[in-house]
Amino acid sequence: MNNNKKIRVGILFGGRSAEHEISLLSAKNVVDALNKEKYDIYLIGIDKEGEWHLRDAYQYLLHADNAKLVRLHGSQGTVALIPKKQGKEIVKYSGKELQNPLQLDVIFPVLHGTYGEDGTVQGLLKLANIPFVGASVLGSAVGMDKDVMKRLMRDANLPIAKFIVADQVRMAKLDFAEVIRELGLPLFVKPANLGSSVGISKVKTQKDLLPACEEAFRYDRKIIIEEFIAGREMECSVMGNEHPVASVLGEVIAHDEFYSYDAKYMENGSDFIIPPNVDAKISLKMRELAINTYQALCCEGLARIDFFLKNNGDVIVNEINTIPGFTNTSMYPKLWEASGVSKPELMDQLIQFAIERHRKEKSLKTTF
Ligand SMILES: Nc1ncnc2c1ncn2[C@@H]1O[C@H](COP(=O)(O)OP(=O)(O)O)[C@@H](O)[C@H]1O
Ligand SMILES: [Mg+2]
Repeated sequence: MNNNKKIRVGILFGGRSAEHEISLLSAKNVVDALNKEKYDIYLIGIDKEGEWHLRDAYQYLLHADNAKLVRLHGSQGTVALIPKKQGKEIVKYSGKELQNPLQLDVIFPVLHGTYGEDGTVQGLLKLANIPFVGASVLGSAVGMDKDVMKRLMRDANLPIAKFIVADQVRMAKLDFAEVIRELGLPLFVKPANLGSSVGISKVKTQKDLLPACEEAFRYDRKIIIEEFIAGREMECSVMGNEHPVASVLGEVIAHDEFYSYDAKYMENGSDFIIPPNVDAKISLKMRELAINTYQALCCEGLARIDFFLKNNGDVIVNEINTIPGFTNTSMYPKLWEASGVSKPELMDQLIQFAIERHRKEKSLKTTF
């Protein structure tokens, strides 16, 4: 780190995922929360085709207050990531001669979903030898794939819903009556690798099962069919590397059939109750489960863990989100605020976790 100087943070946002717009909204909140006295901020907005552009700090978004209309604006040139020995000169303007290197100390990927939260970008950043915020390649990939995630949770004896996984080959042979006998109705169908409830359906009758599977297959080559869990939805924020800590809990009350895309991101789509009215013992159990889940899923930096709380007090872990939303309505930063960690402090901590991990990784031997 360059002493006495500001830390140069690159914010990677947008990207080639169905959650592109949400990433734009999240990035805006991350940028606003970073203490400008400590950080020089470089905005690297990835468009929907996957091209990286340096963006102007004041005018990088259009319709920044609307999840349906928001989009990237302007470009100061395309940029590329060049692996370097020292891991310092990272992003350079592309062009004939790769001039004007941009030297970054750390990158904060504020990317949700495929090509951002799934380990792909993390692999690139690791190759480039630059510290980055959040889970590394393995934790990101595992957290993105609901099939592998649930298998690891099952292996760690974490309480999860019953599920069936199908690719196109298995799908062709699937006996729907048998699926319903095993999982009951209603049930949930989801693409294995996505987020923000995109491609997810609640299925109430057998005839709705095939269209729901087809819808999920539009987004992924693998889908999950899952038992319906009747219960309240609770979320917990976690941060840290070797010693993760959990925030207070939050409850989501969605104004929709379930916590759908619109319920998540539209104004008044949901209510949040922080902290929720939950028995202290159950709340403690959920916070412990959040940390156990975080560790079982090889997570580092940050994640949000989501639960169902059944009426009988049983807790079911639903999923992990390794780059949780940072939008105005997002739980992750709200839960930390309710736990006494302001947004700027949260940013400082996440950046420190990134730098610490990188320092430790660099000290490892790579030869005999
Ligand atoms: N098994 C389930 N039982 C009840 N509701 C579910 C179930 N799975 C998903 N849901 C509902 O769908 C929402 C999105 O599903 P989730 O698995 O969290 O996917 P995503 O990664 O898109 O957030 C949940 O927040 C919840 O409202
Ligand atoms: Mg979810």
